[in-house]
Amino acid sequence: MPPPATTPVFRKTTETFEAGAKTLPQRYFTSPEVLAAEQEGIFSTHWMLVGHQSQIAQAGDYFVQEVAGESLIIARDQTSVRAFYNVCRHRGTRLCEDRSGHSTTIQCPYHAWTYALDGRLVGAPHMTGEAVPGFDKADYSLHAVSFGLWEGFIFVNLGDAPASLEQWFAPLQGKFSHWNLPRLRSAHRIEYDVRANWKLIFENYSECYHCPGVHPMLSKVSPYDSAENDLTEGPFLGGFMKITKGASLTMTGEACARPVGDGHKGEEEGEDAEDFERVFYYSIFPNMLLSLHPDYVMVHQLWPQSPDRTLISCDWFFHPEAAEQSNFKPEDAVAFWDTTNKQDWHVCELSQQGIASRAYQPGPYSSRESIPAAWDREYLRRMADL
Ligand code: FES
Ligand SMILES: [Fe+2]
Repeated sequence: MPPPATTPVFRKTTETFEAGAKTLPQRYFTSPEVLAAEQEGIFSTHWMLVGHQSQIAQAGDYFVQEVAGESLIIARDQTSVRAFYNVCRHRGTRLCEDRSGHSTTIQCPYHAWTYALDGRLVGAPHMTGEAVPGFDKADYSLHAVSFGLWEGFIFVNLGDAPASLEQWFAPLQGKFSHWNLPRLRSAHRIEYDVRANWKLIFENYSECYHCPGVHPMLSKVSPYDSAENDLTEGPFLGGFMKITKGASLTMTGEACARPVGDGHKGEEEGEDAEDFERVFYYSIFPNMLLSLHPDYVMVHQLWPQSPDRTLISCDWFFHPEAAEQSNFKPEDAVAFWDTTNKQDWHVCELSQQGIASRAYQPGPYSSRESIPAAWDREYLRRMADL
């Protein structure tokens, strides 16, 4: 299925590189005050990726995610996804300790107040009737959090009155319909604990200047100088790189699953062969990296813990029926990117170490680093808004 005519997968743009762009000053990578300002002004007020709807496919499924220092419960009830603060309305106790699970209700471990999955308080021992005059369960629902779905991914926003998710993602409307994202399923997740500032991860993801030296395996199947970008300014940045004809970004070099898009019939059936020779990389401000391959989609979530530490979860998504076919070898893609991810994290950690030195000064970006430079500009604009 080709993408709708009005929303091409890739719209060629003239990329501009501002000569003289430099990396950010040291404090942006080392200062607790900067991180506190980011928590307040970025992570608490922007749409944050927390997962994919397939993680909570059944009513009663839930998971817990910390966002900007707040523990949240993301659940599915009979009708919808729901998002709440993980805070009991009685005496504030943390409700869910497990990171994920399945339950028909949420019960506080302290005095057993019980909440339905839509947040309503449905059980409060010794609180009703004459026990506590005037007490009304309806006044003590869980505090809800704004949430929304974009392409099947779940986003939350801790802001008081955030602009709608639809408005935020309007510039990307239909752009990724080719990849069938709402229907995909994660076959594997790896969590990384990286000793580097979260911005270094974005900057690293946004260029392949480092690829020949850092990623010899990747460079063999995807030439480092083949990048073409179509989103070059703003909160969504990136473009594609070429994949060697007939190859895939896997350990064996072969496709590891059926194509993620339903419309892909395959080259042998005369379908658009170009789609099989590109991998698209987009960064979605402020915590998502979206990597779209012909046979799988990889998604990173970034969770800053301190100025020099970031937790990163990485999921590998496949076509919902991929597992039914004999060519399904998710581990082939997982191993390829686990190796590549670790190569990236290593240089990010080395950067963090050097940037913390008194000798560090902002250094000049090359013309092959136009996207990290654009990412920094967008970041600074958002920080200036605080
Ligand atoms: S603190 Fe939750 S029931 Fe008492
Ligand atoms: Fe890299």
